[in-house]
Amino acid sequence: RAEVVINGSSSPAVVDRSNEGFKRNIQPASAKWRHNQTLSLRIRKQILKFLDAEKDISVLKGTLKPGDIIHYIFDRDSTMNVSQNLYELLPRTSPLKNKHFGTCAIVGNSGVLLNSGCGQEIDTHSFVIRCNLAPVQEYARDVGLKTDLVTMNPSVIQRAFEDLVNATWREKLLQRLHSLNGSILWIPAFMARGGKERVEWVNELILKHRVNVRTAYPSLRLLHAVRGYWLTNKVHIKRPTTGLLMYTLATRFCNQIYLYGFWPFPLDQNQNPVKYHYYDSKYGYTSQAGHTMPLEFKALKNLHEQGALKLTVGQCD
Ligand code: CTP
Repeated sequence: RAEVVINGSSSPAVVDRSNEGFKRNIQPASAKWRHNQTLSLRIRKQILKFLDAEKDISVLKGTLKPGDIIHYIFDRDSTMNVSQNLYELLPRTSPLKNKHFGTCAIVGNSGVLLNSGCGQEIDTHSFVIRCNLAPVQEYARDVGLKTDLVTMNPSVIQRAFEDLVNATWREKLLQRLHSLNGSILWIPAFMARGGKERVEWVNELILKHRVNVRTAYPSLRLLHAVRGYWLTNKVHIKRPTTGLLMYTLATRFCNQIYLYGFWPFPLDQNQNPVKYHYYDSKYGYTSQAGHTMPLEFKALKNLHEQGALKLTVGQCD
């Protein structure tokens, strides 16, 4: 029985922030790539020993009540109270209950997507996951429009919506939320204390304007469970990125997984500059503190080579 080699070596992976080792290996939309069903199933089974996406994708209503105290995952000494609004928005049943999809796309936010022409291909997948409320309309040719699940770190409210300082920004966020049109909005509300107000603002907006989204708030154990899984595969990740969390969850309900916009490097395979986010106005490359993205990328690339997932880092056909 073939081993699943995720790290690519028998020793803990070393963080490599350069492009070395990646630039030659992944060809645009490689025609050679073939899905390895056996391996995908084995990975699903292994991950299920640590977490179950059906359960861990969200805390459910039955498990919390207003006023309950929660310790933040990264700031164990800080607590929050479950507000009435948060309680109202907790799902009664898992938004992924009994869900199975033939193919899923996970769209990361790297600038490598620009001029990729991947929009159409992304939109053909049965389930499309996006990260951090990234804009789609203006970039549809490269990133597509279909959105079944979108994540929203509380920090997005600050970074992309000016902390809702005035009515214009509130309206912008509201429009973006309305455009989700029934998709799952996945808000990691219990990670770090800094996001408290921002989560409350969003919850309030959704309720007040009856926004048609299905809110989900990841379980308190998800992050540790994801870290645990990768650790046992010798991938030592301190703080998994949203992209990696999504891949790990998706193994549960997606038969084939296609990744786009995962490229945490300042140069592309042809040595051209790449924006950190496809929607950034400037080129400045600022990797997120606390993440080890190149290490994650190496692990994902190994899985790509074994056919467990498909990474697209160039143009789509
Ligand atoms: N990503 C990537 N290369 C980049 C930018 C992003 O591979 N240059 C992937 C990462 O997996 C990241 C996901 O796309 O989690 C979404 O990007 P972003 O919104 O920038 O996430 P971050 O804010 O950087 O990090 P976080 O995971 O904390 O949300």
